[in-house]
Amino acid sequence: MTHAPRDVPHLGSIDLRLPVSLERMFENALDWEHLPWVHASSFASIEKIDAGDWGWHAWAGLPGTDPVEKIRFELRLEPERHRWITRTLEGRGAGSEVWTHVTPRAEREIQLVIDFFSPTGSEAQARQRFAQYEALYRQLYDEDLAMMLDRQQALDERGTPAAGGAVELGSEESVRGALPCTATAFGRSWRIVSLDGELVAHASRCPHREGSLLDAPVEGSELICPWHGYRFELRSGACVSGPRCRLPAAPRVEIDAGRVVLRAPDAR
Ligand code: FES
Ligand SMILES: [Fe+2]
Repeated sequence: MTHAPRDVPHLGSIDLRLPVSLERMFENALDWEHLPWVHASSFASIEKIDAGDWGWHAWAGLPGTDPVEKIRFELRLEPERHRWITRTLEGRGAGSEVWTHVTPRAEREIQLVIDFFSPTGSEAQARQRFAQYEALYRQLYDEDLAMMLDRQQALDERGTPAAGGAVELGSEESVRGALPCTATAFGRSWRIVSLDGELVAHASRCPHREGSLLDAPVEGSELICPWHGYRFELRSGACVSGPRCRLPAAPRVEIDAGRVVLRAPDAR
């Protein structure tokens, strides 16, 4: 431990190595919106108070509490010092701080040293709180790692969609029997779902941050991205939960003499 807050006891630290770039890690730290989605067992909700390149300040709801118990906390990023500091300002754990220092070890490998500070009573309480923090943070980073690796893969695979035409997928019976299914066509992969019996294709990646939509739940005619919960109307591609983005134009799915055919997407 090389830096510490004043007057808050140090509980302990953990050291992690993750196979991701510094860029992915900073991006993840600034991403307050993913907390109740990617870390659903640790956060029930998030309400932003303020956010920017400096970090964010928010209320978070704790899962399994009724009425929902909330904590107010902030994350401040100090990229030039390769660190960010998370402070619990109000609610359970108020006064606690988590200092995370990150050191790049290779282009896509980082080392994290995470120090936990918290006002505590006895030594036994301090040990217990550290054990809770350690378990929680190991789980949060497992979940974040999956997200960061998937996003990196999506960015690596980003290409220019291939030009028009049509791609046949097979008989209507076999396609309907395999729904929801994925298909690669026009240089991209798509998922095909049934909306009231109508076959509809949609992009396999979210236009917000490239979240995978291959297992995204569909409610009515809306698709819900598992990373930040944005909702998209499947037929139009419009984001109906507010944010300004839309699904990329998808191929039309047509039935031609009992065969399912994808027709190249029209530009949206
Ligand atoms: S990646 Fe953010 S809502 Fe899909
Ligand atoms: Fe996270």
